[in-house]
Amino acid sequence: MKIMKKCVSRLRMVWVVLCVMLSSLMVSAQDLPGDPANGRKLFNAQCAACHKLDRRLVGPAMAGITERRSQEWLIRWIRNNAELRASGDKDAIAVYEEYNRSAMPAFPLLSDQDILDILAYTIVGDQPASPAGDGPVTTQAPAKPERGLNVWVLAGLSLFLLILLMILVKVKNTLKVIKGEEPTSVLEDFSKGVQVAVKNQKLIVLLTVVVSVFLLKELYWGLMSIGVEQGYMPEQPIAFSHKIHAGENGIDCKYCHYGAEKGKHSNIPSAALCMNCHKYIQEGPKYGTAEIDKIYAAVGFDRETQSYIEGYEEKPVKWVRVHNLPDLSYFNHAQHVNVAGLECQTCHGPVEEMEVLYQYSELTMGWCINCHRETEVNIENGYYKDLHDKLKAKYKSDKITAEMIGGLECGKCHY
Ligand code: HEC
Ligand code: HEC
Ligand code: HEC
Ligand code: HEC
Ligand code: HEC
Ligand code: HEC
Repeated sequence: MKIMKKCVSRLRMVWVVLCVMLSSLMVSAQDLPGDPANGRKLFNAQCAACHKLDRRLVGPAMAGITERRSQEWLIRWIRNNAELRASGDKDAIAVYEEYNRSAMPAFPLLSDQDILDILAYTIVGDQPASPAGDGPVTTQAPAKPERGLNVWVLAGLSLFLLILLMILVKVKNTLKVIKGEEPTSVLEDFSKGVQVAVKNQKLIVLLTVVVSVFLLKELYWGLMSIGVEQGYMPEQPIAFSHKIHAGENGIDCKYCHYGAEKGKHSNIPSAALCMNCHKYIQEGPKYGTAEIDKIYAAVGFDRETQSYIEGYEEKPVKWVRVHNLPDLSYFNHAQHVNVAGLECQTCHGPVEEMEVLYQYSELTMGWCINCHRETEVNIENGYYKDLHDKLKAKYKSDKITAEMIGGLECGKCHY
């Protein structure tokens, strides 16, 4: 009888441990499924007119919403709140009343995943700098793509194995107790296990090989990324946002970077060009007058009198250069933008979404070469027609890549 009791209490412990493990797995599974970056985009486009994360606007603040409401409820509410109310849901009716029956629109086109993404964004927020700050935004460069195993995954995995081990020991001891033997402690089992493992030469060799391979791989990646500035995102003297200009206001890249079509360099516009608009647009949505005043200080425009100060010596804005190939290489914008007809975004990424500009591509030699191997030359543009006809005949193909016109010759890219 006593043995049975002991047995049951041990089994109960095993179950408690199992349940804790399972529930913790479920909690983390619930936190995981959304992509906050996509959520942020969706939120800004569809919700931001009425919701802010940190305070009440037309509707309630969204920070912490996942703690107040279940995921299922939120999906139903966001997809169609009127329907949820009509179903008699008390919470839905209560919020509606609280906000003076100002109905929120339905979003039937958002998928479950979209909604999970938005919810993930409400948890994560605007990391790491909040746009509400009054200085220039100093958002960090986006992290480089993850390689190999995540530390957290590793930690979770080891914890899991540890708990599994403990359960096994418990089960073994329970069996021992049933048989009437003395149970051994976890520590005893563990030290016995280590002794066996240390004596096992094959295991030691295997372990050494695995660890060395891992270290060598890290070293290799570390060396390969020296000099690669992908993701470089310096703070600029004026909080100029490509998102506001090229994105929200749809200003053509070439309106400002008119040099890109004509020559080697794509110019950075002068403050005088900014004044085409900012003589009239005197306040911004985020920084008010602070950042636009820096343009005025550069060109000598007086806010009070609304006129240019006479005899003012222009002070060029000292933009920090983001992209910079080493001097040994030659890159020409017109060749790529005009002749090849490439979009700026092919090389510079989604600039129209960048609050702060960063280097999107690697800008390594391998990057240039890969594209020259893969990209077809735009033969329709009329440049070098004779040459193209000859090449078509030579390669017996209609597909002429940049490689075929000499795009891999060292001298084309190196002086
Ligand atoms: C036109 C304004 C408007 C837009 C756009 C809007 N909402 Fe709402 N939202 C409201 C109002 C107002 C409420 C308060 C409830 C009510 O009046 O029905 C609300 C309530 C909510 C609630 C419930 C809050 C709680 O405390 O239970 C959630 C969740 C929510 N909105 C999410 C969203 C999401 C996500 C989007 C974008 C996809 C969005 N809303 C777009 C106006 C809006
Ligand atoms: C209203 C003028 C304006 C428009 C429109 C504009 N830019 Fe810019 N761009 C700037 C200014 C000013 C800078 C320098 C500050 C900075 O880096 O944010 C810049 C910087 C850049 C840089 C980095 C230059 C460097 O230092 O290496 C790239 C790349 C760029 N822009 C691409 C684009 C693309 C692509 C578009 C269109 C989607 C675009 N820009 C539209 C004004 C503009
Ligand atoms: C073709 C018109 C145009 C040009 C050229 C232009 N801007 Fe703007 N700028 C805008 C518009 C539109 C806004 C947004 C105003 C708003 O939403 O209230 C804006 C906003 C801004 C803001 C305010 C940001 C904020 O959130 O407070 C800054 C700073 C700014 N521009 C800097 C520049 C600089 C620097 C240049 C020159 C390199 C430039 N702009 C050229 C149209 C222009
Ligand atoms: C084929 C890839 C490619 C395309 C397409 C491209 N760029 Fe670039 N861009 C680069 C590279 C590479 C650099 C760095 C050049 C250097 O350091 O000499 C650069 C640099 C820049 C700079 C910094 C000034 C300079 O010339 O060094 C600006 C601004 C810029 N690009 C804007 C644009 C705009 C606007 C477009 C579209 C009209 C565009 N780029 C299209 C690859 C590209
Ligand atoms: C997105 C694809 C792409 C990338 C990235 C790219 N190029 Fe090109 N490049 C082209 C294409 C397409 C052409 C052919 C243009 C034509 O029709 O003559 C070309 C042509 C050239 C030429 C002229 C070749 C000739 O025979 O006239 C040079 C030089 C060149 N690229 C240098 C570079 C350098 C340097 C880089 C990297 C910093 C680079 N390119 C990155 C697509 C690319
Ligand atoms: C399509 C353009 C292109 C062609 C073709 C090209 N290169 Fe390069 N090369 C580059 C660029 C761009 C860089 C600078 C990349 C960087 O800083 O990582 C570079 C860098 C180098 C470097 C310096 C390496 C370093 O890490 O600093 C050497 C050496 C070099 N190239 C040799 C060659 C030789 C040899 C050839 C002919 C077989 C060649 N390149 C063909 C674009 C090209």
